[in-house]
Amino acid sequence: MGVVESGYRPITTELWPAYSPEVIVFDTPDKVAKYGKARLVEQVLQKPTSVLTLPTGSTPVGMYGLVAQAYREQRLDLSDITVFNLDEYWPLPPGHAASYAEYMRTHLYQHVNVPVSQRNIPNSGAVNPHDESARYESALRQRIVDLAILGIGPGDTCHIGFNERGSSPRSRTRYVKLDPQTLAANVVNFPDASQMPQGAITQGVGNILEAQQLVLMATGTGKAEGIRRTLEGDIGPDAPASYLRYHRHVTFVLDSQAASLLS
Ligand code: F6R
Repeated sequence: MGVVESGYRPITTELWPAYSPEVIVFDTPDKVAKYGKARLVEQVLQKPTSVLTLPTGSTPVGMYGLVAQAYREQRLDLSDITVFNLDEYWPLPPGHAASYAEYMRTHLYQHVNVPVSQRNIPNSGAVNPHDESARYESALRQRIVDLAILGIGPGDTCHIGFNERGSSPRSRTRYVKLDPQTLAANVVNFPDASQMPQGAITQGVGNILEAQQLVLMATGTGKAEGIRRTLEGDIGPDAPASYLRYHRHVTFVLDSQAASLLS
């Protein structure tokens, strides 16, 4: 992002430069997953000590499967990378099957060699979500994220991380309430719906925009309207993913369904 690279942060976002993001459209979700995997692997091969911000959710499942395969078959070495997850539900008992920590263990960490000490995710079992957010923020601030991979929220939330509508482009790691559309989409992961937390700890938009490079993956018709508003609507809090247009190095990688409403 230009303003961060120059070390100068104009007071009003009206003065922030906006860029035309790279948009890549594939015919199938599998190719979106392959692209995500290729970007992650390329980043790690170029810089084995890379710091990555990674997402959870249904969209990146295929990508993680391919990364695990590359680890097995091509001896991809992930022992020097550091990962910061985008977000985690709060409150939820650590180890809960629907926690994002458990998601990362199941889909990635149990298959590859990222050392435990280099895996970062907010603690869903922390006593105080604000203290936990401050702890995560301070760990994140000590590092420069080389590559952040993101998804986009359901319906017209257009969230990134769990930065729901109304989020500021300068927002930092914090506790947030989840949008009703997010709750409705994600409750399927909770066998007992009453256990679903109403909130989460998320990296802020400001944290996300500080990554050197960003890739947003979206697949399926459920993302089409959000992608249209993100790429063709106004940049602003009604579509937090639109803030990515303030970043110089962002790629939207879509399947044809997610791209179907783009003009
Ligand atoms: C998850 C995250 C969210 C998801 C988004 C899309 O860590 O940060 O922004 O990327 O909710 O989720 P799926 O892929 O399940 O549609």
